Amino acid sequence: MRIAIIGGSFDPIHYGHIHMGLESIKQLKVDEVWFMPTKITPLKDRELTSVEDRVSMIKLAIEPYANFKLCTLELEREEKSYTIDTLRELKKRYKHEFYWIIGNDQLEQFDRWKDPEKLVKMAQFVCFDRDHMLTKTSYDIKRLHMECMPVSSSEIRMGNKLNYLPSKVLDYIYANRLYVKEFVANRVPEHRYRHSLSVANLCEEFARNNGLDVNVAYYIGLFHDVCKAMPKDRMLCWIKAICPENEKYAPPVWHGFVGAEVVDRIFYIKDWRIKNAIYHHVLGTSTDPYAMAVFCADKLDPLRDYDTSKGIQLCKQDLYKGFLKVKEDNERYLQKGK
Ligand SMILES: [Fe+2]
Ligand SMILES: [Fe+2]
Repeated sequence: MRIAIIGGSFDPIHYGHIHMGLESIKQLKVDEVWFMPTKITPLKDRELTSVEDRVSMIKLAIEPYANFKLCTLELEREEKSYTIDTLRELKKRYKHEFYWIIGNDQLEQFDRWKDPEKLVKMAQFVCFDRDHMLTKTSYDIKRLHMECMPVSSSEIRMGNKLNYLPSKVLDYIYANRLYVKEFVANRVPEHRYRHSLSVANLCEEFARNNGLDVNVAYYIGLFHDVCKAMPKDRMLCWIKAICPENEKYAPPVWHGFVGAEVVDRIFYIKDWRIKNAIYHHVLGTSTDPYAMAVFCADKLDPLRDYDTSKGIQLCKQDLYKGFLKVKEDNERYLQKGK
């Protein structure tokens, strides 16, 4: 059999990888594509997401493709995984003809790989060139052209281009809370990020004590202020496009309306409860339990400079009573400010 190997950290796997697999079948006429996740990547020093999570995401992503397989050979090794050792092991175990697929970025640093001269004799290395063969190399590496899919795992880890993830992988990411804190950290200042985490934890507690879904509550808290740092003119563009009737509210209120739309369109969160709660979190205008939970958690955040413990206790015992109390206190506070 002819096998194409696509190695990488797959942190996470996305449609760019899948596209590369499909192009390998089309252009190299291979029988199967093996996705080979690395345990530790020798040329990268960032800490990777756990092996279990990366493997689970690969399985979900390749499920629809009969000739895509997962190869866990590099994960079995304790020490750093060098391609030369992997290829030796593959040749020992199988009689297949191997094609090792690399991208342009890997081609550029190919001489930093261990024993590159030996490597190119053990398997046919193939570089899918995305920029029309601009990178030169002296090694025997086959060059093929592939239409560029403009996405990288690092962009996804920052909460961008999530539409390049198979939907089951995105569901897995949210269910297991992978990368999600980074999604928020990359969009708000440090103090707002700490507040968001704190509100997420408190929402979760309120949910647990009031028989609500803790994951839904967590995401409402985490994302509720994701648009708080958005410049006013940009926020106004969103308001005009999605809910022009809300322009009449004071600008500090807008981030709730825009946030609800951003979680849908940028983070692909379609849960009505999450969107509704974020939409209403500033004014407390919804009595849906999740909306009440985030309205209270926002005002009762333990990081605030006043004692919120009594309010927190009340919300844990009875969310509706807590909500009425927090709303009353908030209105009194706003009146005082006038
Ligand atoms: Fe807010
Ligand atoms: Fe907030």
